[in-house]
Amino acid sequence: MVTYNFDRVPNRRIPGVLNKWTWYPKDVLPLWVADMDFPAPKPILDDLRKAVNQGVLGYELASTALLETVAAHMDRLYSWKVKPEWIVPVTGIVSGFNVAARAFGSQKKGYLVQPPVYNEFHEIKNHIGIPQLDAPFVKQVKGNILHYEVDWDLFKKQAKKVSMFLLCSPHNPLGIIFSRRDLAQMAEICLENNVLIVADEIHSELLLDEKKFTPMAKLSKEIANNTITLIAPSKTFNVPGLFCGFAIIPNKELRDKYVKVVQDLKLHVASLGLHAAQVAFSGQCDEWLKEMRCYLTGNRDFLVDYVTKNMPAVRITIPDATYLAWLDFTQLNLENPFEFFFEKAKVALSDGAIFGEKGHVRLNFGTSRNILKQALNRMEKAFHSIN
Ligand SMILES: Cc1ncc(COP(=O)(O)O)c(C=O)c1O
Repeated sequence: MVTYNFDRVPNRRIPGVLNKWTWYPKDVLPLWVADMDFPAPKPILDDLRKAVNQGVLGYELASTALLETVAAHMDRLYSWKVKPEWIVPVTGIVSGFNVAARAFGSQKKGYLVQPPVYNEFHEIKNHIGIPQLDAPFVKQVKGNILHYEVDWDLFKKQAKKVSMFLLCSPHNPLGIIFSRRDLAQMAEICLENNVLIVADEIHSELLLDEKKFTPMAKLSKEIANNTITLIAPSKTFNVPGLFCGFAIIPNKELRDKYVKVVQDLKLHVASLGLHAAQVAFSGQCDEWLKEMRCYLTGNRDFLVDYVTKNMPAVRITIPDATYLAWLDFTQLNLENPFEFFFEKAKVALSDGAIFGEKGHVRLNFGTSRNILKQALNRMEKAFHSIN
């Protein structure tokens, strides 16, 4: 039954507000930063309204009830038995992995990432001053469809030189849901080399085609003891501006060190973020999420079909998760596709270079089908003006 209308998106061009829609001039369609154009589910909005109507927006801490809700959510989704005391509230997932890098990073040994990957993963070396080591995926192409696999030899080689592996699962921008086998193999290599796993699982509930997800820490007790899992309601329920996330750390020694950095930096989650998380993880938004995933799956299919039919020379991923697609122009005569589409099509995408791969763009399809269609029409026209 379709109850929610994701075809209707609110106007976000609000004067005096700087966001995805007002960052660029008015004639530009924004398919860049990773928030969606859909309103958050009603139970969250009602709860926030209630808090605002009550009038006092005072300091709040994560209550036992909230931590229990987060733990119950993990049990409901994955039968993962998380104890509430393992959960550390954080002011978002970027803060969450930067805290881990401060607590556990070493100047001698660096941290490992799998490019092309979320731009903030590349910034840690600048913030914390620890070296970044890369284990890029191997790209495979079938027709115009892109597929990426782990390069295991390289992963093993690089794991020997680091103290921390920052996993993006599901993967931004490639939309990969790693198989249990791949996760287990990554974990085994990390355990062999005494490498801490920090699993950014912020996109774990944005699953397309009713795909299933396994948290890294769910694989075994040994892996859970060596893993910091970062989750948040922000991407799933489209409340990223409320900056609230959770680090799940079963290992007490790791948790104590992590909490010390959170406290030293005074990372205090805003009260409304805690409110939203309580409602988001309570189960009240499940129907909304189910329909939203269905809508996103339709957008993904529309996008891949459109590119394949109308711009077959352009290579594209078929993401299994997230609302992000990855487009490859390296085989074409288009040196900077981000600038090209911005100038010629007035569509703002994300430049692949910030993820570690030039000649690519990331496209955010978390919007109405109509906006997506308009953007693709503009891109196609611009593309055919030169190809
Ligand atoms: C993989 C990943 N981690 C973290 C974030 C941002 O997290 P936060 O806004 O909670 O810091 C994003 C946003 O795009 C992301 O894609």
